[in-house]
Amino acid sequence: MLGSWVLAVFCICLFLLLIRIQRPKNFPPGPEPIPIFGNLFQLNIKNPLKDFERFAERYGTVYSLYIGTRPAVVLTGLKAIKEALVTKSADFSGRPENLLVSHVTEKKGIVMADYGPGWKELRRFDLMTLRNFGMGKQSMEARILGEIEHMVARLDKNVGSTMNPQTLFHDTASNIIYLVLMSTRYDYEDKTLKEYVQMFTEISKIGNGPWGMIYDTLPVVRYLPLPFKRAFTNVKILKQKTADMINKHKMTRVPGQPRDFVDCYLDEIDKEVDGSPFGEMQLVMHLLDLHFAGTDTTANTLLTAFLYLTTHPDVQEKCQQEIDEVLAGKDHASFEDRHNMPYTQAVIHESQRIAKTVPLSVFHCTTRDTELMGYNIPKGTLIIPNLASVLSEEGQWKFPHEFNPLNFLNEQGQFEKPAAFLPFSAGPRTCLGEGLARMELFLVLVMLLRRFQFIWPQDEGAPDFTPVYGITITPKPYKMLLKLRQAAKEI
Ligand code: HEM
Repeated sequence: MLGSWVLAVFCICLFLLLIRIQRPKNFPPGPEPIPIFGNLFQLNIKNPLKDFERFAERYGTVYSLYIGTRPAVVLTGLKAIKEALVTKSADFSGRPENLLVSHVTEKKGIVMADYGPGWKELRRFDLMTLRNFGMGKQSMEARILGEIEHMVARLDKNVGSTMNPQTLFHDTASNIIYLVLMSTRYDYEDKTLKEYVQMFTEISKIGNGPWGMIYDTLPVVRYLPLPFKRAFTNVKILKQKTADMINKHKMTRVPGQPRDFVDCYLDEIDKEVDGSPFGEMQLVMHLLDLHFAGTDTTANTLLTAFLYLTTHPDVQEKCQQEIDEVLAGKDHASFEDRHNMPYTQAVIHESQRIAKTVPLSVFHCTTRDTELMGYNIPKGTLIIPNLASVLSEEGQWKFPHEFNPLNFLNEQGQFEKPAAFLPFSAGPRTCLGEGLARMELFLVLVMLLRRFQFIWPQDEGAPDFTPVYGITITPKPYKMLLKLRQAAKEI
């Protein structure tokens, strides 16, 4: 009996030894992984950012982790991230396979597309089309201001009372990107808009959250009916809704006379060029990518900005003074006004810095065997750029760990953007919606602060700034009390 126990233990030890994870030669160092699970148990799967900081302190700015049996290299701080994503961009701009996000998106669309000529063509098309619809007969600015009018009307109904802004910014951001994509907006009470927002937020929280991490770590559990299945169900529903909208759109389309992004894309499909990356199947996921990326990011940044403005009344008031001065006699703000609003610009950027909205970027992967800061990194290695680490990196910021607009103001009170401001990432895969996002953040914040005063309700207790982690970071739900400003009554 004892003999068979000893034999069993011996066999298990031998098995574990055989499948022991060994880092490739001259691979970045990191915490010791265990077979099958990798470093799963050394990470707080609800929010691993603190663990990532701890590992960087111990192993350096380029270290490795195991997600199950799969090696990943985490890049920390400005120097390592710039060196990989900018200086060695051709080697570090791939997208990984075999993760929840790649399975959910089927690597169609643009965000998870492989680095290569197809992605390049799609990206060029996206940037050009977004720009064209920004400058076409109805400019991007006019679309955003139009949507802000709806938002203001909604807020007007809440003046004098306390409201939860949880879906306010998502609804607005979703409508703005949808106007560019499909020339359509939804009423804030519309069921479809509520469904979009609810499913996007759910996908974001599953994506990098505990269930996403378990999916990525343990391929054997992928077929079980666990909560990550929601991400697949949601995408299936969203794809169907988007496909229906495309079909509806086609009925009123005149080829060669595009009204929006979808029409431009359909014109590209009509050209029937050999090897073209444009196709109807790709279009559905492509639209979903842009809709999702354009909604959850901007909205969560605004949620954070208003949390800090509400709890820092002095900062809010200084913005309002500047806004009143610059907009005196004008009906509305224009993006150009930002050049005369250094303080407000500083507050918007500081909100983005503190929000760390996309903390680990979208994961990259190496496209060939390469080398980084003296380490060898084989082709196909998962790369995690820790953007959050750059946004609070000591030595890069005057006040790395507190909300302080002085991080973006020089001695003369002029707006200045430090090199470590990388919320949109860097290099060829940097966010392609940055221009749109910056315009939205500015116009929404300025137009709302001009009209309303946002107050932290007395009975809400102390604010809780602890972020809720996911592909995007969200503040915990909070409430704000709304007052109409005197300046607004005089307009
Ligand atoms: C405050 C708002 C936003 C933030 C913080 C943000 C941040 C990011 C980040 C960190 C990435 C990953 C870059 C990388 O892989 O290195 C990204 C990619 C991307 N973003 Fe944004 N984003 C924002 C708004 C938007 C908007 C409004 C759109 C819609 C047009 C958009 C579309 C995309 C797309 C399509 C990609 C993938 C680009 C590619 O793989 O080539 N984003 N964004």
